[in-house]
Amino acid sequence: MDQRTPFDEDFYPDILRGLSVYFDSPFVRNIARTVQRFRRQDLSIALNRKQIACKTWLLDELHRTYGGDYRSVWVLGGWYGVLSALFAEDQRYRIDGIVSYDIDSACEEVAECLNREGAMSGSFKARTADMLKLDYASGTPDLIINTSCEHLEDVSAWLDLIPHGTRLVLQSNNYFGEPDHFNCASSLEEFKAQAPISNIDYEGELALKNYTRFMLIGTR
Ligand SMILES: C[S@@+](CC[C@H](N)C(=O)[O-])C[C@H]1O[C@@H](n2cnc3c(N)ncnc32)[C@H](O)[C@@H]1O
Repeated sequence: MDQRTPFDEDFYPDILRGLSVYFDSPFVRNIARTVQRFRRQDLSIALNRKQIACKTWLLDELHRTYGGDYRSVWVLGGWYGVLSALFAEDQRYRIDGIVSYDIDSACEEVAECLNREGAMSGSFKARTADMLKLDYASGTPDLIINTSCEHLEDVSAWLDLIPHGTRLVLQSNNYFGEPDHFNCASSLEEFKAQAPISNIDYEGELALKNYTRFMLIGTR
């Protein structure tokens, strides 16, 4: 038998494929396929336990707040599409269409690989776009999610582009050490001041090892 080590290309993908069979999970199978195809270091960050904890927190609180049925959801700053893949895996949610927008063009094909079934059926799309330049007035989705508020210099200026009445899920954090974090918040109160929305239906914080994440669910 071959002597494999964790440095071999197939070592972790093989384990992930085994787990996908055991859990009968397209999500785990797509992770195995994606990490083998795209050897990007930050893919391991996008899938680390803190990133997944922030997103399962979002799924739980969004379901508690507004339920699981949506016609159209936009995920802004959607990175490699992890949140969209978790929506697809979660039996509580029925979403007709998700579009994941990111300004970084390298995200598109990674996100479509991670959301393979949705990309093939047309219920998931990854698009390269600056969220500050999207046309929010036409074809507004019934939910906009932005878990990358810390990456925007002015969250309030971005919110001004969004029609009143749109449902929103917003996350930020107090992880000031990251160079790409232009606009962290040191507390939930500070995040609320940065992101003025007319109605808040959920607000909370999640303490993680190196930082705390803040979340608001409400209406623009
Ligand atoms: C590194 S991710 C992580 C954010 C957060 N921790 C999460 O998991 O949602 C932030 C993403 O926002 C994207 N981004 C930053 N500014 C953006 C903009 N103006 N429009 C669209 N995407 C943007 C970056 O390219 C990056 O992929």
